Amino acid sequence: MERTFVMVKPDGVQRGFVGDIIKRFEQKGLKIVGLKMLQISQELASKHYGEHQGKPFFEGLIKYITSSPVVAMVLEGKDCISLARGMMGATDPKKAAPGTIRETFGIDIGRNVIHGSDSAASAAREISLFFDDQELMCYELSLASWVY
Ligand code: TYD
Ligand code: MG
Repeated sequence: MERTFVMVKPDGVQRGFVGDIIKRFEQKGLKIVGLKMLQISQELASKHYGEHQGKPFFEGLIKYITSSPVVAMVLEGKDCISLARGMMGATDPKKAAPGTIRETFGIDIGRNVIHGSDSAASAAREISLFFDDQELMCYELSLASWVY
């Protein structure tokens, strides 16, 4: 079963969307296997967004992501990496498809409410950056395996 890393960014927390966003993933049928609130340090931010170092938006991105607490989670489910990305919508909320999280809650590319891993390699890297192994739960939902 696939796992992905998802994070409600500081604007999502400040504007009170944590519950709405988690609810969408639960309703979709993804299982929460890790969940916590944290304040991202400069060091963690630079590692997490390392691929964007040197780009014009990098400094602003680091300032934004470290400005206030975030809610980080690990979700598990069939094809959950691409599924969660699809539910979020395009990076720029103005270009995100109707009904997606970024389209529903966001206006500006620099305040796009949520992060989600973009590949299996990113998911593995980001999960290990934000969570220790013992913080991730292995449990069965009391549903028949064909119910989703
Ligand atoms: P990116 O990894 O390209 O997008 P995504 O979050 O969809 O994987 O960029 C990381 C974050 O950087 C993005 O969520 C918002 C911010 N960003 C900007 O502020 N301006 C930009 O032009 C881009 C491409 C990203
Ligand atoms: Mg990305």
